[in-house]
Amino acid sequence: MRLLDVSNNEIAQLAVDTLAENKQFVRAVTSYADDHEILASEDIYAQNGMKLIPHGTRISKKFYDRLVAHKLLKPIEQSLAISDALDARKLVELTHAEAHRVPSLAPMLENRELLDKMQGLLGDIQLPAPLALKLSVIRVDQPDFFQHCLITAMLSMVLAVRANLSRGEIRALALASIFHDLGETCIAPDILAPQHKITEAEYRHLYTHPITGYLMLHEFSEIPEETAIAVLQHHERLDGSGYPYRLPGEQISKISRFLAVAEFCSSLLQRYGADKRIQLKLWLNRSRYDKHAMEILFKLFADTDCPLPKLPEEAVLMSRLTRIGKIFEDWKVIRESFSAADVDAISYFIKRVNSLQMLLLEFGFDKARIDEILSLSSVGDPEISMETNILIEELARGFKDLYGEVQRKVAIYGSTLEPSVRARVHEWLMSACSLADDKVQ
Ligand SMILES: [Fe+2]
Ligand SMILES: [Fe+2]
Repeated sequence: MRLLDVSNNEIAQLAVDTLAENKQFVRAVTSYADDHEILASEDIYAQNGMKLIPHGTRISKKFYDRLVAHKLLKPIEQSLAISDALDARKLVELTHAEAHRVPSLAPMLENRELLDKMQGLLGDIQLPAPLALKLSVIRVDQPDFFQHCLITAMLSMVLAVRANLSRGEIRALALASIFHDLGETCIAPDILAPQHKITEAEYRHLYTHPITGYLMLHEFSEIPEETAIAVLQHHERLDGSGYPYRLPGEQISKISRFLAVAEFCSSLLQRYGADKRIQLKLWLNRSRYDKHAMEILFKLFADTDCPLPKLPEEAVLMSRLTRIGKIFEDWKVIRESFSAADVDAISYFIKRVNSLQMLLLEFGFDKARIDEILSLSSVGDPEISMETNILIEELARGFKDLYGEVQRKVAIYGSTLEPSVRARVHEWLMSACSLADDKVQ
């Protein structure tokens, strides 16, 4: 089955072009080669037929300029050989070791049972040599990224074992977890840094990474098709708010749904550490992710005595809470100014804002409660402070996700919307996105 028709699909074409260029990996591999022996396993050619590097040459940084000056005939990793590449056995060991840093996972790793089980299930997987080389380079070049893949893999394995997935499903899920963000290795790491303000063009690249990853994996016969599809779909969400194709729940594969839950939790752990926020955040996002997998994780964290998080100062929380009230008051005014045609044109956008507003209510933060907290300055209570902080973080993330959808132009503002109305909505959204960035006012 040909899942992607790149000839008639703008975003898939962008993925193909990104892959063909891939300066990021050429930079990473030539730097890595300065300290590790990497040889050209064959002559390396440019697409125009020019021989760039002869077979047997030891690669080093000095070849970077020559390699990026041309479009290569093949992805570079297919023409290189490395002697100490990672293999599946070593990956399982690294995954297991990494998980010891996650408090909620550590207790179940005390005896070797899980490690032995994982080695038995996964240790004999043959990784295609170009992918093994890629992982070896990424481990050194982007340690945080590599750590994210390992923790995602560990969480996936816990989910898989507890959900009694079949051996084939477990193997496909493990590979998908390790390689799920492979497409991101084509993106400059600065774009992914949390403090970087992403431009529209960069957004498009970022949202292409599941397709780029799929294309990178799809060509290897050793990689199960379920793995490649799970990578393609790992940012799809059950409520249809994901990307690249905004698939509804029933169209997302089971492996991908498990991967998405493990990946979500792994990102939370890396961003916030294993504190009390994890459970609440899992619960708040339950409608977007696989129910069964979420229940397993929720139980896992409920069984662990997580510490309270370190929170922003009370004045910052109060200021942000005030802003939440203002954001939704402003939205009410804008919403009331819409004509019937406007409502029609941006019905999806309205639905998404409504669901963020529902988050407030679900959390018990209706207008009266916000006013009460603000008037009594009761954010000083640690539990209320934590809830308030989570609410702020979740709303800020929700607004940013919505902004991302606008950037991807997925039926958000509609082509028939009046430019002045569009500008007003856009300005409101930009302001809402900065909810958690602002200084105390
Ligand atoms: Fe990820
Ligand atoms: Fe991703």
